[in-house]
Amino acid sequence: MNDRHALPFPDPSLVCLLGISGSGKSRLAASLPPYTVLALDEFRGIASGDPGIQDCTPEAVDLFHRALETRLARGTTTYIDATNAYPADRRALTVRARQYGVPAIAIRMTTALDECLQRNSQRKDTRRVPGPAILAQHEQLIAAQDTARLQTEGFAEVYDAADLPFLGACLERLTAEPEPEADDVRTVFGDQLAAVFSWHTTPVDLEHFTGAFAVGGDELVIRQNNGDAFDLRFEARVRCDNPGCIGPAWTYVSSAADLLAAYQGDPYEELECDRCG
Ligand SMILES: Nc1ncnc2c1ncn2[C@@H]1O[C@H](COP(=O)(O)OP(=O)(O)O)[C@@H](O)[C@H]1O
Ligand SMILES: [Mg+2]
Ligand SMILES: [Zn+2]
Repeated sequence: MNDRHALPFPDPSLVCLLGISGSGKSRLAASLPPYTVLALDEFRGIASGDPGIQDCTPEAVDLFHRALETRLARGTTTYIDATNAYPADRRALTVRARQYGVPAIAIRMTTALDECLQRNSQRKDTRRVPGPAILAQHEQLIAAQDTARLQTEGFAEVYDAADLPFLGACLERLTAEPEPEADDVRTVFGDQLAAVFSWHTTPVDLEHFTGAFAVGGDELVIRQNNGDAFDLRFEARVRCDNPGCIGPAWTYVSSAADLLAAYQGDPYEELECDRCG
């Protein structure tokens, strides 16, 4: 694989993001390969059912540290998506890394405070962090601008996020991977529906690809024109509304609401029947 934009971390290592709410840690984490990130918010979600609920933090941190120890013991490179503003939070990470002989690396997020506050104000309800809490995090992280101080805390290397090619590394990795399956379905209907979709392997006719959203035995068949690569439209299979006709009939769908209407046999759009037109 081409690795002009490789990230400079040894394998294994424990790579800790440091940044206030809204600084872009979770987006950075989203650029990394699957199963490389431990995000404290995820453990809040696991503990309480909602990543925005703060009063479960002690239990969430406990689970998070246990997951981290498991990975360190196995020598699995791990990125930490958590604010890590307070020295005690960082020390809990560096101490564990040292215990397992894995180097700890600090990445300081470089987004300006104003920008973080602005992004945070656009978050909804439970995900919005109170302004004073962000200012307190910011206050704490000013001290972390001192690289020597982070080294004293146990970080072997310290970087600023803006100096590393995270996007380049992500693009390089994705370029080397095969095209994701059901990509048009993802584009039109989103990630969650793409996750419950697969194309049929044997085509039923030459003009269309067919596939189905299927969960357990509950399914909805859709098809896409096979002749025109630029035609992203999908049709869902429905019953023909002509009495006595066994169809199948098709109706255009472009959202979860359209799929639901087709699934319920009451599509918004006109039907086109393979048998009676
Ligand atoms: N580099 C960036 N450029 C533009 N928007 C960004 C960038 N990084 C993050 N964002 C946006 O800012 C918001 C906060 O980012 P997020 O990754 O959730 O921050 P954090 O996890 O540090 O709280 C999100 O809406 C995200 O999409
Ligand atoms: Mg986040
Ligand atoms: Zn018909």
